[in-house]
Amino acid sequence: MKIPRRLISVLSLSAILFLAACDREPSLEDKPARSGKVTAVGVADIGGPFELVDHTGAPFTDQDLLGKPQLIYFGFAFCPDVCPLALQQMGMALSEIDPDGSYFRPVFISVDPERDTPESLSVYVTNNGFPKGLIGLTGTPEQVSAAKAAYKIYSQKVPDPQSEAGYTVDHASLIYVMDKDGKFVDVFTHDTSTPDIIKALKAYKSEH
Ligand code: NI
Repeated sequence: MKIPRRLISVLSLSAILFLAACDREPSLEDKPARSGKVTAVGVADIGGPFELVDHTGAPFTDQDLLGKPQLIYFGFAFCPDVCPLALQQMGMALSEIDPDGSYFRPVFISVDPERDTPESLSVYVTNNGFPKGLIGLTGTPEQVSAAKAAYKIYSQKVPDPQSEAGYTVDHASLIYVMDKDGKFVDVFTHDTSTPDIIKALKAYKSEH
């Protein structure tokens, strides 16, 4: 098994991306409070058990991910820029290397369960340019917290008077690549170029 060369960057990214904000520029003052000490983790430490609900309203657990390699992104449907950008990059990459959607399983997990209902996600996942067959997952706040913890995803509600609901959600913006058994393979961010994502996924697909 290949040691994921990006594992080190996952660790530093998870610190940096604590600050990834969808709706506002993070201030430097946020940094000390939000960048926790990052301890070394093994490959198996990303991913794990969760129980959520998919965009059709059906129960969906980590077991339902298995059998195909997965691309997993945590975000929220109200996010105006970062989430759509990442999902469009995923969509663009998959349309090139997996045009019929048979190889990878693309998944969007909400960090905003209050607003992201299965009904609203059922519309969201069909957005133009998003991956074909994108699975939208949400759940109770407790279920979402458990999924976030399993994947080491940081997110935090922050007040936003401009939003109708009065808040936005700062969140890590990571595209995880997991193998068909649910083990961590690689990670991208919305800053990874689409050609680089295509190159990495193409290489993975040709080796597995
Ligand atoms: Ni976002």
